[in-house]
Amino acid sequence: MSALPPTVAWIGGMPGALEILDQTRLPLETRTLRLDRVEQVFDAIRRLAVRGAPAIGVAGAYGLIVGIQGFRPHAAGAAGVAELLAHAAKVGEYLKSSRPTAVNLGWAVDEVLSHLKNLAPKLTKAEDAVAAALERARAIDADDRERCERIGRHGASLLRDGDTVYTHCNAGALATAGIGTALGVMYAAAREGKRLRVFADETRPLLQGSRLTAYELHAAGIPVTVVCDNMASRVMQTHKIAAVFVGADRIARNGDAANKIGTCGLAIIAKHYGVPFYVVAPLSTFDFGLADGSGIPIEERAAEEVTEIAGVRMAPPGVGAFNPAFDVTPASLITGIVTEAGIASPPTPQTVENLVRRG
Ligand code: MRU
Repeated sequence: MSALPPTVAWIGGMPGALEILDQTRLPLETRTLRLDRVEQVFDAIRRLAVRGAPAIGVAGAYGLIVGIQGFRPHAAGAAGVAELLAHAAKVGEYLKSSRPTAVNLGWAVDEVLSHLKNLAPKLTKAEDAVAAALERARAIDADDRERCERIGRHGASLLRDGDTVYTHCNAGALATAGIGTALGVMYAAAREGKRLRVFADETRPLLQGSRLTAYELHAAGIPVTVVCDNMASRVMQTHKIAAVFVGADRIARNGDAANKIGTCGLAIIAKHYGVPFYVVAPLSTFDFGLADGSGIPIEERAAEEVTEIAGVRMAPPGVGAFNPAFDVTPASLITGIVTEAGIASPPTPQTVENLVRRG
């Protein structure tokens, strides 16, 4: 992979700031944003300046530090630590409300909060609590990188030299702290010397496929062809597609998986043509509180994302739009779920549980 600017990074120590690559500008402009107020972090997640389930998890963990590092408790000692913890819990709730579907955001914020809670009895200064929270956020960041590598190695075993694959949205380096999940599989296969060709669909309405996936695969030297979302069937009719690889935002215990809107339709098309369909995600994307995908909250976004393109109205004035950002692909349409602990294939409550035991 060629070096893109980091998707998310903590700059400095304490105090420090969260730096993100502004994905709303790509591919035309490579601009990083320095976020030193929690409202800026919320806004960056909300408007997809930073996006992709694992990346918003890491951004949320660092965002929590942004939100607590300037807090000055009234009391000293243990009482001050308790005040800081109460403030951190509020900041965490605020950040988690920025986007509802990706479970990684809540997971990462809660990881930092529960680390703080566990340490609290041993802490006597609020600053030490912030330092401990930063350490945990950095660990989540490093852990995500490492898990992407392991996911990549498992997924690469599914590919052969010369394969053509298909992907939707962006589940690459721009969506994680590491090499990505679905695209991580392609980078890992390329490192093993396998020559691949990738079809990336545009991913309307916000074009994560053509703007981001094509950008990073092209930068990495992997041949990529962009198609409109409605060309998937034609691509599978006319080309030998070895497999479809997509990411996920939340996966239920039975393997039902929420991902970018259009994923379920793509899985239905892949099933029709007998093309294997893989969901690629770290174990932190599983929501073990959900038996199936029916309880996954689906974000609905502004109608203008559909009725306008680059700020220009495309639908007649007065006509509304339905804009769900994600859909749920039933496990029955998924060939396997590729994780850092191996592949659940086919995904069932039992194969998923086996992976978790190994993870
Ligand atoms: O709305 P987005 O761009 O955040 O949606 C991203 C996706 O749906 C990704 O496929 C998913 O988060 C997995 S990223 C490794």
